[in-house]
Amino acid sequence: MDAGLEKVVAAETVLSDVQGAEGRLIIRGQDVETLARDFTFEQAAEHLWGGFFDASPDMTAALGKARLAAFQRLEPDFARLVALPEVEAVRAALSLAPDGHDAAAAIDLVATMAVATGAVAQLKAGRKPVVPDANASHGEDLLRMIRGEAPSAEEARALDAYLVTISDHGLNASTFVARCVASTRAGLGSAVIAGLSALKGPLHGGAPGPVLDMLDGIGAADHAESWIRSALDRGERLMGFGHRVYRTRDPRADVLKRVVNTLPASSGRLALAQAIEGRILQRLAAEKPDRKLDTNVEYYTAILLEALGVPRGLFTCLFGCGRVTGWIAHAREQLATGRLVRPASIYVGPAPAERAAA
Ligand code: COA
Repeated sequence: MDAGLEKVVAAETVLSDVQGAEGRLIIRGQDVETLARDFTFEQAAEHLWGGFFDASPDMTAALGKARLAAFQRLEPDFARLVALPEVEAVRAALSLAPDGHDAAAAIDLVATMAVATGAVAQLKAGRKPVVPDANASHGEDLLRMIRGEAPSAEEARALDAYLVTISDHGLNASTFVARCVASTRAGLGSAVIAGLSALKGPLHGGAPGPVLDMLDGIGAADHAESWIRSALDRGERLMGFGHRVYRTRDPRADVLKRVVNTLPASSGRLALAQAIEGRILQRLAAEKPDRKLDTNVEYYTAILLEALGVPRGLFTCLFGCGRVTGWIAHAREQLATGRLVRPASIYVGPAPAERAAA
């Protein structure tokens, strides 16, 4: 038995290759550094989805139209959505989208995820949701809907780089469940809702909010040493560190750190984050000498999203807004090349009474 399935190969994929020893991530033939630098969100979605759908519409125009349609669909339910926690609200919004299999259903899900995230941001702040701008790029419009004001060109580019960087990452927990659901022939909506549900957990995509809580708790680099020791003594995990596959630095952490550097507002927080990161890495190396624990994507995700003015309660939803393109590509790949996923288990429960007696 392999409880975490880390030695089990459950799929062949053309989508991404996580090279844990080297600290390298290849997304459909492109290094993540190249993808983040050269691809817009729309181009990255086309890159991941290429060949998995019969039709390949103009992504920018189709997404713009779909955002408007999603807003109209969700509007009557805004009052009910605001009563839910953020991820649950986005999940409820996704459940109102058609559960189809084609490119139109896929685009609708990407649009719904963004519109719901923006609407929840506004509603939680006590404001009316912002109507999407069908002519804006997806990332720019997403940030505008979240903040209620248009982002600068640097900010829009930074959000695109984030969404592209986290678009796909091998058979992580949320992608695996998305593939499991797709393998039953349920629709893309079902696969995406399952993916988002797995993403929510603090060991997966729920980590960046707690990263900021940790930085706030430490407060200043001089306090880091004692804060870290106490947290580790209590058996806590330090959010934004460690990874199931990487045995070195997560390459996405450096991509995002570079992106944070392009945003003028972030400099104080970034300097503190870097100083604390250094102390944490020293302590983890001393405490866990047999297990190489390094910085993961969530650490600089937290700094980047904060610098972009995204409320921390929405960080996991933002992760979902990028990863949804990967979940959909994997769901389509599973349908095209995979089988119904049905692993075995070893029964260790009690025997029926009559057999136990015999
Ligand atoms: N802080 C402190 N200790 C950590 C740690 C962290 N962030 N990550 C792992 N460890 C320790 C474990 O406590 C364990 O120690 P032990 O052997 O003394 O019990 C050892 O390292 C191995 O951990 P393990 O649970 O086998 O690692 P994993 O592969 O199952 O976990 C993560 C991977 C990502 C879940 C884990 O590193 C973690 O919880 N990180 C914090 C949450 C986070 O940043 N998540 C985002 C991931 S992208």
